[in-house]
Amino acid sequence: MAVMMTIDGKKIEAEAGMTILEAAAANDIRIPTLCYLKERDPQASCRLCVVEVEGARTFQPSCATTVREGMVVRTDTEELRRNRKLTLELIMAHHPVDCHHCMRIGSSKEEDLDPMFCEMCFWCDCVRDGICELQKLNREYHVDRLPFELEGYRYPADSSLHSVIRDPNKCIKCRRCIDICNNVQTVHNLALKARGQEYRVTASMDQPMAYSPCVRCGRCVDVCPTGAVYMEEHIDEMLFCVHSYDTKTVGMVSSSLLGEMENLCGMPEGSLSVQKIVSAMHKLGVDYVISEEQAINASRKEAEAILEGADAPVVISNSFAVKNFVKSRFADLADRVRYYSSVQESFAKEVGKLADRLHLPDESVKTVVFTANNENGAQAREENTVDFSMNAREIYRIFLRTGVDLCRTVATDALKQDPDPKLVYGDVTGPVVFDHSADPEVRRLNGKLIAVAHNLGQSAKLLEEIRAGNSPYDVIRLNG
Ligand code: SF4
Ligand code: SF4
Ligand code: FES
Repeated sequence: MAVMMTIDGKKIEAEAGMTILEAAAANDIRIPTLCYLKERDPQASCRLCVVEVEGARTFQPSCATTVREGMVVRTDTEELRRNRKLTLELIMAHHPVDCHHCMRIGSSKEEDLDPMFCEMCFWCDCVRDGICELQKLNREYHVDRLPFELEGYRYPADSSLHSVIRDPNKCIKCRRCIDICNNVQTVHNLALKARGQEYRVTASMDQPMAYSPCVRCGRCVDVCPTGAVYMEEHIDEMLFCVHSYDTKTVGMVSSSLLGEMENLCGMPEGSLSVQKIVSAMHKLGVDYVISEEQAINASRKEAEAILEGADAPVVISNSFAVKNFVKSRFADLADRVRYYSSVQESFAKEVGKLADRLHLPDESVKTVVFTANNENGAQAREENTVDFSMNAREIYRIFLRTGVDLCRTVATDALKQDPDPKLVYGDVTGPVVFDHSADPEVRRLNGKLIAVAHNLGQSAKLLEEIRAGNSPYDVIRLNG
């Protein structure tokens, strides 16, 4: 059912049950948010999205207020802007200000700080500098003075995993990571602890991450709006390798990166291609590039070999996070899951063949993967699958630091694609996309019932059915 309402003087039609935020977004009206995550239940903790609703005595959080017939909403009044600025100033009273007050140029005005200039600065080392949602809003709302005294205890960053790093000082308690870890991934590693000044997100039992049940899926990293959770960076080591005369570097670019890279670089949707990033990779100094298709096909062939003739239900996975998840939560089913090489591992094997062909000594070859999938970074750290596995944010910072401008880079067409290997299970064994839903995807193919899990919560559901002995599927693929 549709309702008629007015937002900022514009008459609009919205679906009953929609929130004000969703109705506004559907009509190109932007309301600022910090804790909101699309397709998840609202946390309504940041109060940045407040709007004026005619007849209501207080401002309403637009992410958690549903539309009504005849509702009149204002999203950008003077008073709302003042309120949002105050909210940001209060957040900043508990937040490190290294990116806020630039010591190098002696300026306290956020809008004076060009992100390109910031990248060259020695004072601020936040991994989200220039691409932080909080910093962006501070700029938008001219938070250039901090009226409140800085409060709060400073905690050491937890880098015990050497992959997923947590810096509680930069946390704004938006709870996005908790929602994803607990409700989507069902790992239940993160929680809010204590009260007052010690109120913070902690890993299970307030243990270091290395002793927690974290499976290194890296999904909390994807959703954190600030630099409070991130993948350990290796920019300097990587640049050292590509610039060294003693090494030959071989790279691969995953197409999963394109959307986020466009977003970070402010490029129009659909304007970036893998070939452009490959050209940029060559500009950095990477010597050879192997196509993602070649690695995907090699990985798929392994999966097909497992599936051929196996008894139902056959459970396959090539996910590092799934491997860790099964080990800790479904140890009794560990033998039931058949693992094949991840695309990153297949890439490393293809690099081995290339090195043999070119007579390159093993120790002189370094491997670099550009990927959106954070579990690859963790796997590279723990299993040495490749030398460098970098996510979009790290790649963005590398390009910024080295002056490589993706918008002006010309795409290379030098990539040789592996021909389609005519696989029986086709895209079941190919790349999958993470989603937030609770139920796995089910399809029928060549008379077989197939279930594909797109997150760990869905994987858990399918494994529970196997444990209970009532799994109806012939083939199950688990992803993290
Ligand atoms: S990496 Fe995954 S399992 Fe670990 S804390 Fe983040 S969301 Fe939870
Ligand atoms: S760590 Fe990041 S995602 Fe989690 S509550 Fe803090 S700011 Fe939000
Ligand atoms: S986005 Fe609505 S309260 Fe945070």
